[in-house]
Amino acid sequence: MKDIRKALLFECAWEVVNKVGGIFTVIKTKAPVTCQEYDDRYYMIGPYNPKFAIIEVEEADPVHSQVKDAVNSIRSEGVNVVTGKWLIEGAPQVILFDINSATPNARLNEWKTDLWNKANIPSPDNDIEMDAAIKFGYLAYWFFSLVSKSDFPIISHFHEWQTGVCPILINKNKLESATIFTTHATLLGRYLCAGDTDFYNNIKSFDVDAEAGKRGIYHKYCVERAAAHSVHVFTTVSNITAYEAEHLLKRKPDGVLPNGLNVIKFSATHEFQNLHQEKKIKINEFVRGHFYGHMDKSFDLDNTLYFFTAGRYEYRNKGIDMYIESLSRLNNRLKVCNSPITVVAFIIAPAKVHSYTIETLKGQALIKQLRDTVSQISSNVNSRIFENASRQVVVDPSTLISKQDNILLKRRVLSLKRDSLPPIVTHNMEDDSNDPVLNQIRRLQLFNNSHDRVKVVFHPQFLNANNPVLGLDYEDFVRGTHLGVFPSYYEPWGYTPSECTVMGVPSVTTNLSGFGCYMEDTIVCPEDYGIYIIDRRLKSVDESVNQLADCMFNFCRKSRRQRINQRNRTERLGDILDWKRLGIEYVKARHYALSRAYPESMATLEVPQNAHSQNKDGKISRPLSVPGTPPTKNSAGANVDSNENPDLFYSNLLAGLSLNLELPGVKLQEDEDDDLRPP
Ligand code: UDP
Ligand code: G6P
Ligand code: GLC
Repeated sequence: MKDIRKALLFECAWEVVNKVGGIFTVIKTKAPVTCQEYDDRYYMIGPYNPKFAIIEVEEADPVHSQVKDAVNSIRSEGVNVVTGKWLIEGAPQVILFDINSATPNARLNEWKTDLWNKANIPSPDNDIEMDAAIKFGYLAYWFFSLVSKSDFPIISHFHEWQTGVCPILINKNKLESATIFTTHATLLGRYLCAGDTDFYNNIKSFDVDAEAGKRGIYHKYCVERAAAHSVHVFTTVSNITAYEAEHLLKRKPDGVLPNGLNVIKFSATHEFQNLHQEKKIKINEFVRGHFYGHMDKSFDLDNTLYFFTAGRYEYRNKGIDMYIESLSRLNNRLKVCNSPITVVAFIIAPAKVHSYTIETLKGQALIKQLRDTVSQISSNVNSRIFENASRQVVVDPSTLISKQDNILLKRRVLSLKRDSLPPIVTHNMEDDSNDPVLNQIRRLQLFNNSHDRVKVVFHPQFLNANNPVLGLDYEDFVRGTHLGVFPSYYEPWGYTPSECTVMGVPSVTTNLSGFGCYMEDTIVCPEDYGIYIIDRRLKSVDESVNQLADCMFNFCRKSRRQRINQRNRTERLGDILDWKRLGIEYVKARHYALSRAYPESMATLEVPQNAHSQNKDGKISRPLSVPGTPPTKNSAGANVDSNENPDLFYSNLLAGLSLNLELPGVKLQEDEDDDLRPP
């Protein structure tokens, strides 16, 4: 009998040392807690991407000789395998298979035939993504077939369809391993939502094979579905995706593993507030350059708020369409009430671009010239005052700035005049005329006119500190903003609002996102803590757009003091999103998988118990400083309690999940907050 306490954990994901989207964040931020639990018995497996691996991996042999031997045996057959420590917190060991080395390329057809023979999964020619998934799957399987011969029990955990081939092979070939497959979305769900399907009302009735076929993803869908059915434990990241998986992949998940973050708290709360101010000043610099010539009395940085949305460019799924529509309504409302506030609304979503536009670069250059000139003149003024004072001469203020300096300053000021409007987009787009964001902005005429109270900046590239125009890393940019807006239609979890929360930045999400639903389930009134949840389930699109516009408008009416207090509250929520708390769900999933794969060995071990919840419904109560609200009434005037308001959408969802999903309670520290409602 194998000793379960010595089990080796292998976690496979396409995004190990390979940043693409949110799965990278899962893998990277969870590493510290998993390393703490498994120490050097934890390995991450992914594809080799030299762009990241060269700078992020310190090469070394795997700690266990059996793992090292397996890797060397694969290497000896012409496969490049990089092993070492990933230089992130926790320093997990990694095994990276170079799917482009000679052997996987040479054996691709043989593997495709095998996949068809064993699992009836077709693999058409010229699908690069599918080919990559097959090569990775067979290399990983090769590795597991060698390692499983050792004395250690094995847990192999696979994330998302790209790693789905290996669990299918493990199952078909009856390899000994406890297996887990976690899906972070369903392929078909993502495709259906991106079109104009009424997804959530038809979820139970789709002809899945036909729908996948119509979208050219049948083969990938087969991998995802077969992987879900091949493992001991199948999980997703949220209840909403569990429900989707049950209907689209035809297996009800055994459990939900909500996504956490590696929350690092400052020792004093004012530190994160100071950071907000520091980073906001950086954004101010960009805005001065971008809107040069338009920064007048009505566009004053002290009365400017920064809103943003960011993520992969999935126009409808990420709710970019709803964001822009609501910005237009917000613009009208701010104009009508003569608001002193200007909103600069950023859209950060990578699209195909050539380079920065001349106009964007020119704006930054002009502001830099002005700044340099002003600092040169100030230094001249300094010297003049000092020289005179040291000779005991009282300076005549009118002589402080020399004529030449004055002329230079005037020239700089004149160069800030512009005939054109400040640009919407910072880059030259490859397909400007068909870009959905630009077309919607054109339709709504959100053109950054002086009279517009909402200005739009579309930055079609992810941010980074080396950027010549908006030189901030994403995290620093978020800290400097006031509100993140993520009105997603399809969002299994949605890290972007969750990351805002731990940084103390209020955000908007929806009740179609895993994160939004999780917060709704965990907190009595998320809005009090700066988590605004737009209803995209029961409201019409127009009503949801209005709700979002209202929410942004009310945010604009807050005083600075209220914004500061709200940020304090938001930041306190970080504790409930910490892996130290949410990681327990992974622990449970692994125990469950082990008990299915190694029932005899597991009989001797105890399954971890949940801590007690804080209050009877397990939710975090409203802040003490919030004034009592009268109970909600329904149209007939009766009080509506959430328990008496059965939510059909979720009624099927939680029933029968085999894992108990209660989470340990969290007590949020209170302070004497002011009322945050707009005056
Ligand atoms: N992100 C980033 N740079 C940006 C915008 C987003 O690195 O300019 C990251 C963000 O921090 C988050 C991830 O991209 O961790 C997006 O994850 P999410 O779960 O929101 O969406 P996904 O792309 O996985 O659907
Ligand atoms: C933080 C800083 C304050 C600053 C404030 C601005 O709280 O510590 O010094 O005044 O941010 O807040 P605002 O919401 O106006 O950007
Ligand atoms: C997927 C989902 C996203 C989720 C991420 C991590 O990419 O689109 O909503 O946050 O995976 O689970």
